[in-house]
Amino acid sequence: MALVGCGGFIGSHLLKAILERTRWRVFGVDLDPYRIQEHLANERLEFLCGDLAERSIVNRIAQYPVVVNLAAICTPSRYMSEAASVIRSNYDHPARLADACAKSGSWLIHFSTSEIYGKTSADSGLLDEDTSEITLGPVPASRWSYATAKLLTERYLFALENLRWTIVRPFNFVGPYMDFMPGVDGEGIPRVLANFSAALVRGEPMKLVDGGLAKRSFTSVHDAVDFMFCLFENDSQGVGQVFNVGNPHNELTIAELANKMRKVFAEIKGVDESLVPLPEVVDGALYYGRGYEDSLRRMPSVQKAERLLGFKALTPLDCALKESLSWFVDHYQIVAE
Ligand code: UGA
Repeated sequence: MALVGCGGFIGSHLLKAILERTRWRVFGVDLDPYRIQEHLANERLEFLCGDLAERSIVNRIAQYPVVVNLAAICTPSRYMSEAASVIRSNYDHPARLADACAKSGSWLIHFSTSEIYGKTSADSGLLDEDTSEITLGPVPASRWSYATAKLLTERYLFALENLRWTIVRPFNFVGPYMDFMPGVDGEGIPRVLANFSAALVRGEPMKLVDGGLAKRSFTSVHDAVDFMFCLFENDSQGVGQVFNVGNPHNELTIAELANKMRKVFAEIKGVDESLVPLPEVVDGALYYGRGYEDSLRRMPSVQKAERLLGFKALTPLDCALKESLSWFVDHYQIVAE
């Protein structure tokens, strides 16, 4: 199989699981192998440093019977400042890969996003793969450049006549190796779990964008990996389907997440919670730049994955947070000391 984005947050966990649980050979493609160093010597992995901008790489990938595409620019802070690159990486490149897979007959499993559900309101209900209406913000609100590109890719896959496809919409996966620590191994603003973890490690207040009122349902990356194995084992049920992958039991506001993370951090460090700085409120447009808007609630319907593939996410949020934050503290401890 081919795994595009095998060195990213989700890709590195999936690659590890494939190498541990199966005898499959993997053609892995990424621009940066830092998360997968331990596997580079594995004889069942052929790693290629590159991306889908190169047509020769696209053609090589499409020679494999199963292709998983995880490559994307997916941090909201970049949707405003780098909208053109965001659109290229989330539409042009995957569309090119889809064309090649349609020609070769490969099964393309494409990672889309829960963000395609768009500008949801605080009281929006369950988001359903096949029936929910989608509202994206106006063009000057570049926050939606990513969702627009991802949605167009979904429509393109749906429209291609000869393509065997499956679309996965992740709902805020969390776990070790998520994103980066600003100023250490990346620049800018990572997604919320990594940004809050970085603030805690540095002893700085976590930033609650627009009051932290938005809600998310967080999902352990290990559940996401289990979903993929359910899909691999049930390809006849999965082809031609869009799947939400999320955990509706793990919903909370971002302000509640900050409080939980303060507690977990104090436990990990063995200090009194009162010593951990309180979060502070920031304005979204000032923090991320003009054109930032938000989804106020992202609550997945998960019936379809359960019905067709027998998959259900099981990891409670507290476990996922403890694992992720412990990993972050350990991994970046040099900075903390
Ligand atoms: C992002 C991506 O755009 C989606 O494609 C992706 O599917 C999703 O993450 C995901 O991880 O699955 P979003 O959930 O908005 O979407 O990303 P975050 O940056 O993690 O923000 C979550 C919420 O926390 C937002 O309301 C944001 O304003 C808030 N936030 C973020 C803070 O209050 N403080 C921060 O420091 C960071």
